[in-house]
Amino acid sequence: MAYVESLAAARRQTDTQWQERAATMSGDSSITLIADDGTDGSPISGLMRVVIKQPQDPSRALQAMLISVYVAPEHRGLGLADQLLDEACAIAGAELGAGVIELGVHEDNARAKAFYERHGFEYTGASRPYPQDKARLEIVMAAGFHPRVKPSKAKARARSSMI
Ligand SMILES: CC(C)(COP(=O)(O)OP(=O)(O)OC[C@H]1O[C@@H](n2cnc3c(N)ncnc32)[C@H](O)[C@@H]1OP(=O)(O)O)[C@@H](O)C(=O)NCCC(=O)NCCS
Repeated sequence: MAYVESLAAARRQTDTQWQERAATMSGDSSITLIADDGTDGSPISGLMRVVIKQPQDPSRALQAMLISVYVAPEHRGLGLADQLLDEACAIAGAELGAGVIELGVHEDNARAKAFYERHGFEYTGASRPYPQDKARLEIVMAAGFHPRVKPSKAKARARSSMI
């Protein structure tokens, strides 16, 4: 329930398709944070992505979406998720110029909801059917903050800081 894509569908992706996905993760309008042990080929311990939301609501500060949130089971409850989310929010403001971060979380994902609440995310009241099971809901949460730089200056810096 954590993701829109099923494990079976992800496993059907070819190596070329994974490489294409990885390439799209390095675009100007997104940030990808990966935690590993720093050695070549080490398994990923955590992942978070922030992408500029499309379309934008022009009456609000620039909106970004937090997606692909994952911390490996052996690293949960130990602070890695906190580090990644703090960094993701800071970089979204500084590099993308975002003033609001939104996310969608399955209504039954109690652990993730508690985690986001602790980090100041609030329920917006919006929800949509969860694509894998339309009888259940994906709930929208959001947190606002002040971007540190203007979006126009952010683009060039974002390119140099992609992981
Ligand atoms: C969501 C995720 C990144 C959070 O990281 P984490 O290290 O597990 O988070 P934390 O342990 O710091 O915080 C989780 C909170 O949920 C609580 N919790 C733990 N298990 C729980 C459960 N079964 N039910 C309800 N709350 C639970 C913890 O006590 C903690 O609450 P607290 O902040 O009040 O102490 C991680 O659990 C994960 O990768 N889950 C699988 C993928 C996923 O669900 N992604 C999110 C998609 S929206």
